[in-house]
Amino acid sequence: MSRPPEPSVHVALDAEGTTSSLVADVRRGLGSVPRTLPPKWLYDDCGSELFDQITRLPEYYPTEAERRLLAQHAADVVRETAASTLVELGSGTSDKTRTLLDAFTEGGILRRFVPVDVSEATLRSAASMLVQRYPGLTVEPLVGDFTLHLGHLPSGDRKVVAFLGGTIGNFYVEERAAFLGALADSLAPGDFLLLGTDVVKDADRLVAAYNDSAGVTEAFVTNSLAVLNRELGADFDLDAFTYVPFWDPAMERMDLRLRAETPQRVTLPGADLVVELAAGEEIRVEISTKFRPDQLRDELAAAGFATDHLWTDGDFALTLARRLP
Ligand code: AVJ
Repeated sequence: MSRPPEPSVHVALDAEGTTSSLVADVRRGLGSVPRTLPPKWLYDDCGSELFDQITRLPEYYPTEAERRLLAQHAADVVRETAASTLVELGSGTSDKTRTLLDAFTEGGILRRFVPVDVSEATLRSAASMLVQRYPGLTVEPLVGDFTLHLGHLPSGDRKVVAFLGGTIGNFYVEERAAFLGALADSLAPGDFLLLGTDVVKDADRLVAAYNDSAGVTEAFVTNSLAVLNRELGADFDLDAFTYVPFWDPAMERMDLRLRAETPQRVTLPGADLVVELAAGEEIRVEISTKFRPDQLRDELAAAGFATDHLWTDGDFALTLARRLP
């Protein structure tokens, strides 16, 4: 039996680049007060597996809500975009993308799929699954950081860039504007952005979604310290930290932190850094911003996108926006 060719993987971010950007992030974020860590370092193999479990938790509604919206509107996306290239930022296992790819192969003219992720191993296994399932499709994975490597996206044909799951909520306000601006710059007029965003809602439901009773989210957030122990030879005592998730009503975002219950002196040889944490001091590991539809339209417009559709079930929103000339 003939096997489809192995997809050719474009590597914009290699292991060395990953380590030096981790070191820079850690020095900047942990070396100053208030302490922060960028959420992209949550997704090593263990963190990716824990996140996968999160998506199946009864309290974590976004994944299923987005999946339903995609199923309802994939055919609209295909018809309205008439795209020949689909890009997915932070694609992971490309799980939800299959809903889109199914619709594109059924009714569209899609030729190419470009999944972008920091994890080369994840991309390779997703890509070999996809070439089996979609024989006519060219799969061109890009190993890269979507905050840095948008310039590596293919150009020439009509594109849709999918950025799903609500991941844009991880950015701070200024980072979000910079990201949307850079994305608009990397697209041609008439290209599209398909954006998944979580919606502002009752604080109790939000807190439950990030403080599940099985403790999976706590394990996911705490794993960030294990990543630093492994990658930078750090000596974080994972048991000395408590998980502190809360809703910040002024910023309309979940704020996920780890609190040192007693004073901690942490050495991070790989980053040439020693951090002294006072009792009660917190490290912010992730924010997850929630959006209101009008605010989203305004932010997209400021970046050069016109919102053609905003589909929502009240819990989650899927926006199809067009890059303006
Ligand atoms: C993958 C960034 C969308 O913010 O909801 C889930 C990550 N963190 N539970 C989110 C996450 C804790 C998730 N995103």
